[in-house]
Amino acid sequence: MQSAVPMIGRLVVIGLGLIGGSFAKGLRESGLCREVVGVDLDPQSRQLAVELGVVDRCEEDLVLACQGADVIQLAVPILAMEKLLALLAGMDLGQAVLTDVGSAKGNVVRAAQEAFGGMPARFVPGHPIAGSEQSGVEASNAQLFRRHKVILTPLEQTDAAALDLVDRLWRELGADVEHMQVERHDEVLAATSHLPHLLAFGLVDSLAKRSENLDIFRYAAGGFRDFTRIAGSDPVMWHDIFLANREAVLRTLDTFRNDLDALRDAVDAGDGHQLLGVFTRARVAREHFGKILARRAYVDAMNSNDLIFLANPGGRLSGRIRVPGDKSISHRSIMLGSLAEGTTEVEGFLEGEDALATLQAFRDMGVVIEGPHHGRVTIHGVGLHGLKPAPGPIYLGNSGTSMRLLSGLLAAQSFDSTLTGDPSLSKRPMNRVANPLREMGAVIETAAEGRPPMVIRGGHKLKGLTYTLPMASAQVKSCLLLAGLYAEGKTTVTEPAPTRDHTERMLRGFGYSVSVDGATASVESGGKLKATHIEVPADISSAAFFLVAASIAEGSELVLEHVGINPTRTGVIDILRLMGADIRLENQREVGGEPVADLHVRAAKLKGIEIPEELVPLAIDEFPVLFVAAACAEGRTVLRGAEELRVKESDRIQVMADGLLTLGVKCEPTPDGIIIEGGQIGGGEVHGHGDHRIAMAFSVASLRANAPIRIHDCANVATSFPNFLALCAQVGIRVAQEAQS
Ligand code: S3P
Repeated sequence: MQSAVPMIGRLVVIGLGLIGGSFAKGLRESGLCREVVGVDLDPQSRQLAVELGVVDRCEEDLVLACQGADVIQLAVPILAMEKLLALLAGMDLGQAVLTDVGSAKGNVVRAAQEAFGGMPARFVPGHPIAGSEQSGVEASNAQLFRRHKVILTPLEQTDAAALDLVDRLWRELGADVEHMQVERHDEVLAATSHLPHLLAFGLVDSLAKRSENLDIFRYAAGGFRDFTRIAGSDPVMWHDIFLANREAVLRTLDTFRNDLDALRDAVDAGDGHQLLGVFTRARVAREHFGKILARRAYVDAMNSNDLIFLANPGGRLSGRIRVPGDKSISHRSIMLGSLAEGTTEVEGFLEGEDALATLQAFRDMGVVIEGPHHGRVTIHGVGLHGLKPAPGPIYLGNSGTSMRLLSGLLAAQSFDSTLTGDPSLSKRPMNRVANPLREMGAVIETAAEGRPPMVIRGGHKLKGLTYTLPMASAQVKSCLLLAGLYAEGKTTVTEPAPTRDHTERMLRGFGYSVSVDGATASVESGGKLKATHIEVPADISSAAFFLVAASIAEGSELVLEHVGINPTRTGVIDILRLMGADIRLENQREVGGEPVADLHVRAAKLKGIEIPEELVPLAIDEFPVLFVAAACAEGRTVLRGAEELRVKESDRIQVMADGLLTLGVKCEPTPDGIIIEGGQIGGGEVHGHGDHRIAMAFSVASLRANAPIRIHDCANVATSFPNFLALCAQVGIRVAQEAQS
């Protein structure tokens, strides 16, 4: 058991309950303390602690116990802390480091300040967020803190070495240690732990004390049991906690009381809209919370946040599949549906993280949105002027489309907004939208070099603008057209090459006039959006992985159903056909203003080509997988005029070149493209760089590899293609999430 070299001499744990006992036992087993001494007022607990191996020995007398201590852990009930601290203050503690486990920190710090006449520098306040329905030293569990949070709340004067030591002890027990200010800790715990306990105790008592109600418990179903489980907690301990964390609990309780009153009023007034708003927001927040917990469990199991795909070589595709809904159209359906008057129904919505980020942003701005449920979303539009300020910064995850399009809308609102994103989005250029919006009169702040976060000031009137885009970007075009819905006069955007026109089409679908003349699109303010029905076609950018897969894997034949074939998106089909691919468009039709077809693809011998530059914007998202097609083609493929690829979710030219070189493919990145020599693909370890399309492209490469490909950093596949692995398995691509060890 005692494997490690001791880090400290003597650890003294005062209070041998579940928490103190588990701390003592865990560290004793770790071998990091030469001796673990327990102190408890209860003789039986002391005896049990020794018998169960929780401590090496016990003392009844505090002074004796603390002699020569290196670390003293105070694990007594929170209201007993004051008395204990007063006793400790009268003793000679030498260089001992003090720490505690109280669930409220402000009162412990105050008690220590009073007892010692100021907070001792070697006292590190702490709080393990771990517990169990069990109690007492007999429940001590050396594993209790594994994968649980422990919050340390050092003060300015806290000794750095003492803090480091306590931090290391908790980590040795497998805890996930965080540091926080005392006040913040008490606020957070009041909201997430203390308030729910108060409500559970209060609700059960309120129902139980009316005798006629006792009977109704017989009918209580799962919901009641779930909600009130924590009312079975230790009343004495909880009474202590409420007395100890009084101020923070009162603040959060008052806020909640106001919200509860608002709900009461809504019920009273029969205001279903208000109720639906609260319930849909709450539901999604709860799901989000559940996901965080699930992800944490996963990450803990992996001991890192690297999601790895293992792609085994070979395979042949067959069958018929429908890939998820178009990402661009899904984003726009939420935006325009929210700004419309009336209720918009969306079908085929992409339930990927990017589109969900947009959906959440509008919920945060007060729009009631039901779903998504099997791709169906119901949006209760608030009209062009009905958005409300979000309660805090709007987090957009990995989604550049959300941030760029929203910035145009938000620049025209009466309130301030802050837009933030994940590490990848935080590196992407936003001046391409901020600069023209500023020309329209918007006030926007960004971080250095025009990176997110974006702070968009409200209350500034926008003026129409005539603007020629410096790069072919549908996001910038769409951003300006959306701002144009609010700007005085006319907003006109000219693009250097055609880019996806979903914004223009969908605005018209909502009854808003957009004039398009060649490369120029304009809107005028003053109109209204009228709610409509939207059917989102399958995303050609997701279908592209399977178009390439079926083309390169000998003997394959696959049908991709209901794919959007808007001519501003079909560059991938044109390029693959130029390379010799066998792709047929069947059952062509139009749904809701967008052309769709079933794509029938058969394996073919591909050859290298010079990719025509005019096709680049029409296939902009498909290049990672097109590079894989090029690697399988006979001869050389050359791409030019694609410098935009360097500022996508990753630098797609560099990242693909690195991965292809690792797999033994000859290629050479250039400033605006790449040169790829077709040949044999080998196996190896490549990196997705948090970019969904890189991870999926290398998965497809495995079909022609001669050894397995391990792809790191694949979690973001969920941003655009949540069921990618399931569809791969269905059609015959041998890629799966690597088993957790
Ligand atoms: C998108 C436009 C493109 C594309 C992105 C989605 C859109 O970006 O890469 O995935 O929905 O407007 P750019 O406008 O930056 O080229």
